[in-house]
Order: sequence, then C-alpha cells, then structure tokens
Amino acid sequence: MSEFTKAFDYEKEFNARLYLDTYFHLGSGSLADDFLRFELANLHKIFTSGGVTGKTLIDIGTCPSIYHLLSACESFNEIIATWYTQTELHELQMWMNKDQGAFDWSSVVKHVCELEGKSGKCQEKEDKLRGKIKQVLHCDVSKNNPLEPVVLPKADCLIAAVCLEAACRNQNSYITALKNLSNLLKPEGHLILAGDLGANYYEVGPNKIFSLAVSEQSLRNALSESGYAIRELVSFGKPEGADFDNSDYEGFYFIHAQKP
Ligand SMILES: C[S@@+](CC[C@H](N)C(=O)[O-])C[C@H]1O[C@@H](n2cnc3c(N)ncnc32)[C@H](O)[C@@H]1O
Repeated sequence: MSEFTKAFDYEKEFNARLYLDTYFHLGSGSLADDFLRFELANLHKIFTSGGVTGKTLIDIGTCPSIYHLLSACESFNEIIATWYTQTELHELQMWMNKDQGAFDWSSVVKHVCELEGKSGKCQEKEDKLRGKIKQVLHCDVSKNNPLEPVVLPKADCLIAAVCLEAACRNQNSYITALKNLSNLLKPEGHLILAGDLGANYYEVGPNKIFSLAVSEQSLRNALSESGYAIRELVSFGKPEGADFDNSDYEGFYFIHAQKP
C-alpha cells in the first residue's frame, strides 16, 4: 500500500532554516561536504556534457534549496521550482527576492562556479538561476498529476533531490511517486535523482527526520517497475572512519534515467 508523508507532520518536525544551516555550508566539515561535492560534480557533468538539455526542467521538492539547480540553469531555458510546505517555500522566496535574511548559498555557489571554470562569477550565477526560475508551484508526488490543479506541457527533464525519500514511506509509494512523476515528463525525457543511501533518518536540530532507506538495488527495482531506463547510476560510499552521527546514511547516489 502506498503511504506518503503528510505536509502537516513534516512541517512540525522539519525546520527548513536549520536544515540549510546544518547541511549547506560547504567546507564546514559536516557529512554534507561529501554529499555536496559528490552531487554537485555529477550535476555539473550531466548538465555540461550536452546530453541533458532542453527547454523546461521541473524540480520536484525544490524548497528550501537551490544547490541542485546551479548547473541545470546553464542547460534549460526555464525551470519550474516546486514546494510542499509553506515554511520551505518561504526560504526559497527570500532567496529569490534577495531578502537580507535569506540563507547564504555562497560556499556552494563558489564551488559550482569553480567546477564551471568561472571563479569570481558567483553573483552572476545566482542571478542567472533566479532569472531561469519562471514559476514556483505546489507539488505533491502522491498525486497522479503532482502539480494539480496546474497542468503544464510535459517537461524535458525532472530533478528530484533528497525528495522521494522524504515523501515516500515505503517502496510501493516510491514506485507510485515515480509513476506520477512520469506524467510530467515527455517521452525520452530525463529524470535525475540524487540522495542518500541507507538512511532511515537525518537530524535537523533535535529532531530525527524520516528518510526512506533506499539501496542501489531498491532504486533499480523502483525505476524499472515504474518504466524508466537507467542511463547512469553512480554512488559514493561513506568513507571508513567518518563518524557523523546526525544520520545513519551509508552513502549517496546519483541517477540519470530516461522515460522510454
Ligand atoms: C530534505 S528536503 C529536500 C529539499 C531539496 N530538494 C534538497 O535537496 O535540499 C525534502 C523535500 O521533499 C518534499 N516533500 C516531502 N513530501 C512530499 C510530497 N508528498 N510531495 C512533494 N514533495 C514532498 C519536502 O517538502 C522537501 O522539499
């Protein structure tokens, strides 16, 4: 049976600003340093190799983050960002509006600019991404049309970074969500998934936030059962001796799949 995280329950536990403060200062020595370096390198590669380009990209479960769109904004004309809870949306809006209180993404943006050989162009990069985000829509992956009531033309690419593990309470729900996402995607459209392997939780302040523990095999099974072809699946194992105790993760994955 499919079961999904309810927005009300999620919002009670998940402090969006604390999440950003904890995991998105690259170089701070948290487990997210490995995560960010691994995922940003793969995102850079996939969006600059020329293989994954197009007009429209929909990012599933964007808020409150932007790190995973920094490379994508070089390859797509328009990005649709999405939100599931109001507090996460507020964080994105503050960044979009350049509010004084917005989260400071500079350590992450600097790293992506260095990957792109454009050191010193950080402000331009953030502004470019802001300009590419044309809409910010509500999204619920449990719905047949996750953007309901909005109906958009089908997209060239979807990203879901650390989203389905938050939304889906079991493997069946994960498969249902992937099938629902497929309804937003053109034939031969690209699906990019990124997240943690083996994590049952990660901490945000005093709270242990639920994560569906996925493995390479469970991801392969879910993608094949929901009708996608895997083009690339790469993973990063937690280094021996890493003793981060704010998650029981075993590593990270990055997947490029395609709708037939
Ligand atoms: C850990 S956050 C990740 C946010 C961002 N993508 C990142 O990588 O930092 C999990 C995301 O999944 C979203 N989410 C949880 N349940 C969802 C659902 N049923 N439908 C869509 N998104 C959902 C949350 O609102 C949040 O945006």
